[in-house]
Amino acid sequence: MKVYAHRGYSGRYPENTMLAFQKAAETGCYGIENDVQLTKDGQVVIIHDEKIDRTTDGTGYVRDYTLEELQKFNAAALWNGKYGFQKIPTLEEYCEWVKDHDLVTNIEIKSSVYYYAELEEKTLELVRKYGLEKKIIFSSFNHTSISLLRKLAPEIPCGALVEHAGLGNAGYYCDKYDYQCYHPGWKGLTEEEVKGCKEHGVAVNVWTVNDMDTLEKIYDWGCEGVISNYPGVCKGWLDSKK
Ligand code: G3P
Ligand code: MG
Repeated sequence: MKVYAHRGYSGRYPENTMLAFQKAAETGCYGIENDVQLTKDGQVVIIHDEKIDRTTDGTGYVRDYTLEELQKFNAAALWNGKYGFQKIPTLEEYCEWVKDHDLVTNIEIKSSVYYYAELEEKTLELVRKYGLEKKIIFSSFNHTSISLLRKLAPEIPCGALVEHAGLGNAGYYCDKYDYQCYHPGWKGLTEEEVKGCKEHGVAVNVWTVNDMDTLEKIYDWGCEGVISNYPGVCKGWLDSKK
């Protein structure tokens, strides 16, 4: 089973920062998941929430700040000074770094709460600029975004992200819409759903698995990937099975 670091090594380091990505890489995990949005001046940045309030020392919407303004806020604010100042990274900075690493990146297009104009196109442009096409999976809760990416970049696989309740007959759905992966939350996932996906040749990557019981269960069900805040723990346990 492939291990993806959710927002980087977010269980131990400030989520969606270059530090969390570098620390994830050190665990030897298969890949990294991150979330992208657009600044006021149209730059692709890596941050989970539409607002900066929870993870930084600032307030307001990502889309209301220019990149220069946004990068003055501390993305490590939740960690009480433990990691000093960490800036909100651009996707370009991430691509520049990851191109030299043996990692697959699951870029989650954050377009289901606020629909950013051209977020898909700008993200793809950066992936192409750095020649990362073979090392990317796009995903989104907004399946219109991944369908657009399937059209713009048929060579790059996409994952249909769904909430914990899941989607019945997901294998058929993903196959029909040409999504190579299904990305369900772990709570509502059943072995039957995983089986259905397998029958349709759809890979199941489960989020966000942070406990051993669930990790073991989805491994037994034959899921293709696990997205976790603790990539080191998952990797260690999986390696011990070999
Ligand atoms: O991509 C898996 C997971 O990141 C989806 O939920 O809210 O953590 O982006 P969220
Ligand atoms: Mg995400």
